[in-house]
Parts: sequence; structure tokens; C-alpha cells
Amino acid sequence: MSFPKTFSWGAASASYQIEGGAFEDGKGLSIWDSYSHRPGKTFNGHNGDISCDAYHRFEEDLDLMQELGIRNYRFSLSWARIIPDGSGQVNQAGLDYYDKLVNGCLMRNITPWITLYHWDLPRALYLKGGWLNRDTSHAFARYASIVAKHFSVRVKHFMTINEPQCVIGLGHLDAVHAPGTRLGDEDMFLSWHHLLLAHGLAVKAIRAAIPKASIGLASTGKLGYTSRKDIPSPEDLSRASFYTSREEASGNYYFNHQWLLDPVCLGHYPKDPVSPCYPYARKVKAEDLRTISAPIDFIGLNIYNGFEMEAAAPDPGTDDREDRKQAEAEPEHQPKTKRKQEEALAYVPVDKYPGYPRTALKWPVTPEVLYWGPRLIYERYGLPMVIAENGQSCNDRIFLDEEVHDPDRIDFLHRYLLELKAAVEEGIPVTGYFHWSFTDNLEWHSGYDDRFGLIYIDYRNLQRIPKDSAQWYSRIIRGNGSDL
Ligand code: NOJ
Repeated sequence: MSFPKTFSWGAASASYQIEGGAFEDGKGLSIWDSYSHRPGKTFNGHNGDISCDAYHRFEEDLDLMQELGIRNYRFSLSWARIIPDGSGQVNQAGLDYYDKLVNGCLMRNITPWITLYHWDLPRALYLKGGWLNRDTSHAFARYASIVAKHFSVRVKHFMTINEPQCVIGLGHLDAVHAPGTRLGDEDMFLSWHHLLLAHGLAVKAIRAAIPKASIGLASTGKLGYTSRKDIPSPEDLSRASFYTSREEASGNYYFNHQWLLDPVCLGHYPKDPVSPCYPYARKVKAEDLRTISAPIDFIGLNIYNGFEMEAAAPDPGTDDREDRKQAEAEPEHQPKTKRKQEEALAYVPVDKYPGYPRTALKWPVTPEVLYWGPRLIYERYGLPMVIAENGQSCNDRIFLDEEVHDPDRIDFLHRYLLELKAAVEEGIPVTGYFHWSFTDNLEWHSGYDDRFGLIYIDYRNLQRIPKDSAQWYSRIIRGNGSDL
């Protein structure tokens, strides 16, 4: 057995990262349009004014996609292109652009997967408080409804929000992404909650317009894995992965799957008294949680790397079973110390060895996470999944023979996809895989310095050059993974 015939092989992108056309045809400004123009915010002042110019060159990109046999395209819509101020009049020219894009996909037998929000909030809404303002959730629901009604006959697959973890963690905590604010714990949680509310309201709006839609969202976060697949108690690994993820995310507490997927899939925020969000999460109204947990059809997972864990040596001196039991029965319970709580974990993170493999962005290369990630998420939430993003940044360049050779990326993909294949063969329901990204693009605050694409963009002239990895991926897709 290998990947099922229905497996969706695809590639992904996002509006601000590829489109350009930032000020054309009535588009409103987004928070990224203003943030990237603020001095010192992005690498060498790079911005998305022109980017890959997909706004004008999407046909060429779709042609390449078709030639490579990529049959699923995940892209996001620019909210401000469709509704310039986020909540008012619809900009017909904006819808026209996405009409051409969607029709272009369908004509080439490429299935469009629409992401509604990939970080480019209309600036007008930011000026009214952005995600701190509950009205933004309702404006998002209206936008979702307009889009869903418009595309109801042509598009079936939707993701509401891409990586809420980064929207809050990078945009409102670390302040390295737009809007670049640093909120205190209470306001950060409020923004987080409104983002989740926006998701839930949008699910309802899409479902109302397209009853048979397949709806998800894209989650990211740290995930633990082990090098063995036959460990006796994966639930211990899952628990350890959850507790350790906040440490691994160095203080960015939101950078884990549970704070997003517990409310979305289980209808409650995690009972985690150590978290700074917990005091606020406890007070959320049941009605909001019902909205947030409107049933979805799949979980999108953006997985790039994880952290290795190993079975902890038993420590006879530490017995906090009582503490753990009490914490389960009584969420308010404060473990004696955080350290003590973690000592009870059956798995602990393994130190990275000197010279461990890394990508150009210095992210660790950890293929096993593409087996363990879906497995742990499935065990916790029981929903089908798609890998909504996976890939690596390389220092790609044009070689003397005028081709772009990227053996690193091929090796990365080969290793990760073998792990994914093992998960699928064990019956873990991963139904699709999207490579991040289709073309090189604006890597947010890192600008054009980091290249994730299967297609190289020469930013001097916007020429597209398929890299070796594009041909490799094409072969894997054509064989439905049998060549791995
Ligand atoms: C996640 C984000 O969704 C995407 O926009 C970004 O470019 C990739 N990860 C790589 O950092």
C-alpha cells in the first residue's frame, strides 16, 4: 500500500508573498503594505509591492504547475483586494482577479484551495483595533461569506486562517511581523480569541453558502518526535510534546498546536495552569467556544521541523503523580513547581548534536516529524489532515549551466515524504501534501533572501526557472509516491 489514488499532491503560496500589484485596481492597504515600508522592519527594506508579480503573471505560473503535473494549488486571497477597507464595499476588480485565477486553475485541471487569511489584514481594520476588536471577527465572517457565495460553484476547499500561532506570536508578541505590536498577556489572549472566533464564524458562513465544502485551517507549532515508531505509549509522547513545545518555542506560548486545535476541535481551551493565557481562557463564554468549535472537515498542518524526544530515565526521587492527578481533576490546581511537572514527563527533549543538519534559515532538518506530527495530532483530534505546508529554504542560485540545482531540497523532501508515506501506510488519514512554496517569494521580514520555491524567481527580471526539485517532485507526483 502507498498513497491512496485520491491523495492531493499540491503546492502553496500566499497573496502578499507573491502577488505584487499592491496598489492596483482599487486594492486597499494591508498591514503588510505599511509594515514592510517601515524602515528596518524587513531584510534590506524588501517589500511586496511587486514581489513575484503573480498579479500579472499568474497564467505563466499556472502553466508551469500544469506542466509539472501539480494538481492542487493552495493560495490565499488578499482581503483588502476584495474589500479595500475590510468591512465596506466590495472591489469588483479584486474579485475579477481571483475569478481569473480560479478559472485558470480549473481550465488546467488544477484544484483551487483557498486560504482566506494569510496575514494581510486590511489596514483600515487594524486602525480600528485589528484583532483586539471583536468586530474584526464579524468583518472576517462577512468577507468569508462574500467569497464563498462568489465561488460556490467553483471552489470546494477552504482554509480559514493560516497559522494563527504566527499571527499572534510573531505579529503581536515578538513584533517581527506586521503589525509589529507587543501586547500584554490579556490583550494578546483577546486577539487570539477573536482570531479563533473569526475562524468559527467563517466556517459557519462558508458552510451556509456551500454545504458540501471541505473546510479547515492551517495550524503550526512545535512537535516532538522520537526516532522509533514502535514506542509503547505514544500518549506520553503527545503529553510531553505539548508541555515541552512552549519551552522549545522560547517563550512564544502560542506557538503550539493545542492552544489552537483544542478550542477548534474539542471545544475548550487547554487546561494548562502554567500558561499565561490560562487565566483569561478560563473566563471565555461557552457560546463563543461553541462558535469556535463549529465542525471542520480537516486540519491543515504546516510542518517544517520538530524536536527529538527520548524516554526519560525514571527518577525515583520525584513522584508527582498526585500533583498530576489533581491537575486533571481540578484545572485550577497549581503544580508545586513547573520543573516538577516536567520531571513527570515520560519523554524529554534530546540535545541537538554539534553540526546537526539545518536549512539555509537554520531550521533543523527532522524528517521524523512528518510521521509523528500527523500521528500525534490524529490521536488527539481524530480528524483527517492535509500537510498544508512543508519545504525548506536553500541558498539557491543559477549555476553556470543556467539551471538551478537544489539537491538539498530534494534530499529534504525525499526524507520527509518517506516519513509521511509511513504514516499514511499505517492508516493515519493524511489526505494531501502541499509543498511550500510553488515559487520563491517574499519570506516576510526575511524579504527575498530566503528561497523556498520549486520555481526559482530571478528578481532582476522576474524570470521563472524550475529548479531540479520541481522535476523531482513532478516525478513523485506522477508515480503517486511509488518512487520514494
Ligand atoms: C509558514 C507561512 O505560512 C508561510 O507564509 C511562510 O513563508 C513559511 N511558513 C516559511 O516560513
